[in-house]
Amino acid sequence: MKKLVVANWKMYQETSQDASRLLSSIKRRIKHARADVVVCVPSIFLQAAGKALRGSNLVAGAQDVSRFGEGAYTGEVSARMLKAAGATHVIVGHSERRSMGEDEATIAEKLLRTLEEKLIPILCVGEKTRDSSGRHFAVIEAQLRSALGRGGKKLPVLVIAYEPVFAIGKGADAALKPMELQETAIFIRKTVASLFGRTGGLSVPILYGGSVEAANARGLMKEGGIQGFMVGHASTNPVEFAEIVQHVSA
Ligand code: PGA
Repeated sequence: MKKLVVANWKMYQETSQDASRLLSSIKRRIKHARADVVVCVPSIFLQAAGKALRGSNLVAGAQDVSRFGEGAYTGEVSARMLKAAGATHVIVGHSERRSMGEDEATIAEKLLRTLEEKLIPILCVGEKTRDSSGRHFAVIEAQLRSALGRGGKKLPVLVIAYEPVFAIGKGADAALKPMELQETAIFIRKTVASLFGRTGGLSVPILYGGSVEAANARGLMKEGGIQGFMVGHASTNPVEFAEIVQHVSA
């Protein structure tokens, strides 16, 4: 399975000049990477990002999508609009959106809208806390089942980003430990297999997100049982991001 790194710029870049400067620096530094790289930008920068990345080994993605296809929905951006603007991937169900009130039904609809436009959803799942009783597995399973349970018999083309909420936005030490990640990645595969069969479970790409930095990327990649990362704060530092991509490509 080809490795993948998703940059999640969140709301860190303020102007289109900032965005294009960062994009060209990233592009230059990862020219020879053997992993696929998706840069998920705020939708206002999407068109420019798509254009800037044309002909490179990077593609542009969106950070969210409307649950509606079209119509009178003030402020919403549809999957078709994202596609027309140049997105190939869309983050769906990020914990920062869940914490703003996005529920499981909404996430399932957003996933469907994304797939209808042949965009690749990056479905985020992850527990808020962990304890030794293992209740976090039930949380992850419920999120996967409600997002994917309505999608038919065949596993759609999608990426799962496993992001434990407590590890997001901190520093390298706060990330999950590689062995904990490996156990969770196996659990996610088993859950997907129970919905779509063994081949589905084995073939779905799983990324880890939550304080991935150059300092922990190697270990997580080596032992975590994953196909790559979703990177937040470290994706806006081109030197650090290039180093992470390097570890994923190795
Ligand atoms: P972080 O964010 O790398 O800053 O922890 C990851 C994410 O929220 O996708």
